[in-house]
Amino acid sequence: MSLVALAGSPSAHSRSTALLRHVLSRFDDRVARTEIVLRDLPPAALVRADFDDPAIRRAREQVVAARFVVIATPIYKASFSGLLKTFLDLLPEDALRGKTVLALGTGGSPAHLLALDYALKPVLAALGARHILDAVYAADAQFTPHALHGHVAHDDVVQRIARALADAPIALRTPVDAPSIALAA
Ligand SMILES: Cc1cc2nc3c(=O)[nH]c(=O)nc-3n(C[C@H](O)[C@H](O)[C@H](O)COP(=O)(O)O)c2cc1C
Repeated sequence: MSLVALAGSPSAHSRSTALLRHVLSRFDDRVARTEIVLRDLPPAALVRADFDDPAIRRAREQVVAARFVVIATPIYKASFSGLLKTFLDLLPEDALRGKTVLALGTGGSPAHLLALDYALKPVLAALGARHILDAVYAADAQFTPHALHGHVAHDDVVQRIARALADAPIALRTPVDAPSIALAA
């Protein structure tokens, strides 16, 4: 079982990436996980759709090989980030077919709560994803700044993530520090 996490924020101190890392922390140690921070991919290769760039090639292969893909993005202009779109545009046709996908989003206001559903989910479906877990959206006010971790999500957000992950076909830790149990093969 392998998991790929895509961090779609251009920001170094990112709330959406903090959510992504919280999700990663919920998985059993037996789950092989890879985090791809899209802002660290070569910008020229992303913008010019350079499929031969080694970093782009490796990232594409990691997504294709994964069983579970978690995607985090800030909401920009009522949609997901352009950085994330440049990467999704480079994925092979049907790259998400047969995978479980979880989308996480953060926005400045609750007004764009549905942006993941109306903007990102159709793109995921176009890439073949059919098992898409309930998206989790959090507004900036639902985070507390933290000296070590940057941003920490409030309990209600953490609970919504736990509910979304209950449908994940992958080994989870429950609770975070307790001995792990396998929820499914
Ligand atoms: C260029 C830009 C556009 C934004 N547009 C929106 C928006 O349309 N709706 C919204 O709720 N927040 C918007 N925001 C606020 C961010 O989505 C919000 O602060 C988010 O948590 C940032 O996520 P990050 O820390 O992972 O980058 C925008 C921020 C920026 C910089």
